Amino acid sequence: MHGEDTDGRVVAAACSIVIDDLPDGLIVTDRFGRILAVNRAAARLTAVPAERAVGRDMSEVFPFRDNDGREWWKALDPEGGLRTRSRVPERPLHLPGGQELYVAARLVREPERCGDVERVTITLRDGGARARLERSRADLVSTVAHELRSPLTSVKGFTATLLAKWTRFTDEQKRVMLETVNNDADRVTRLITELLDVSRIESGRLELHRQVVDLPARARRAIAGRVAAGEQEERFRLVVGDDLPEMWLDQDKVDQILANLVENGVRHGRGTVTIEIESVEWGVAVSVRDEGEGVKPELAPRVFRQFWRGGNSRRRGGTGLGLFIVKGLVEAHGGTITVQRAPEGGAEFRFTMPTGTPDFA
Ligand SMILES: Nc1ncnc2c1ncn2[C@@H]1O[C@H](COP(=O)(O)OP(=O)(O)OP(=O)(O)O)[C@@H](O)[C@H]1O
Ligand SMILES: [Mg+2]
Repeated sequence: MHGEDTDGRVVAAACSIVIDDLPDGLIVTDRFGRILAVNRAAARLTAVPAERAVGRDMSEVFPFRDNDGREWWKALDPEGGLRTRSRVPERPLHLPGGQELYVAARLVREPERCGDVERVTITLRDGGARARLERSRADLVSTVAHELRSPLTSVKGFTATLLAKWTRFTDEQKRVMLETVNNDADRVTRLITELLDVSRIESGRLELHRQVVDLPARARRAIAGRVAAGEQEERFRLVVGDDLPEMWLDQDKVDQILANLVENGVRHGRGTVTIEIESVEWGVAVSVRDEGEGVKPELAPRVFRQFWRGGNSRRRGGTGLGLFIVKGLVEAHGGTITVQRAPEGGAEFRFTMPTGTPDFA
């Protein structure tokens, strides 16, 4: 008998450790609503310490109400309702003066189907985090709509004008309008490609096709891209360290990372844009730096966010997705990226990547 008691206590202690490890709040009551257990997350979310709750009544300690002010526990009525009922779907609820919590429950029956309710397990999740996520989704939709609308408005405006008054314009005027339409169409295509990358990064569906990548050659290519777009070749400098290891990376994604960082150096920075590639203990580090104003330390975490653009960068036509995508691509390779002040005073974006292994290894 004594042994069983000790065993029971050991099991109870182990259970309480386990429920305290859960990321969600958990409350367990008996069929009358007497509280049997409250885990650490539930105590944190409700601001009611476990020792003030256990042994007391659910409706007294946790008087959850829905958005219409109805008492949740009363409406739940564990003993009433159909005997087959067990799952109580998640709902947003409030405690008096408290934040919104997402609450779900399960009526544990004995025997499992159609038996009497033995216990009620209740899970709590922070509603604030979810509300923030939903708000950021809504923001995303409105930002995307806005970003798509401005080039499309211009496409529509110029084509409508050209169709209506074709004969009234000179060839040169028509050419200028068509060039604008062409550029705006490119902008829409680019935005959509970027958005697809963002959604792949966010959902973890980004696939890497690793191969041996010659980083200095990729850097030269990124520079050549800017030169082809009209920049002076003297604006760029490439510094390559000794003994670079063999790197197994996704070449297209590396190109995308470098093109974005070099473009930012040109567009948001000033002076020479330097790409430096050096080996580090477990891979390589690549820094792209310029001699412009740089990024203020307090803004550093923000530059990697979606749609974040610094003060006058909006006028420069970007969407603010570039660095978010760069970070996602670097991290997909197991690397990290940071921004700091370059020795020359501008911005220095530095990413490191592990050497990687072939896909089939
Ligand atoms: N080299 C840099 N020097 C100074 N500020 C920079 C630099 N690179 C980025 N920034 C700041 O970070 C912001 C976000 O950069 P990001 O590349 O994500 O967006 P973007 O360049 O504005 O648009 P795009 O989506 O076309 O890349 C920029 O708007 C700019 O304010
Ligand atoms: Mg950019």
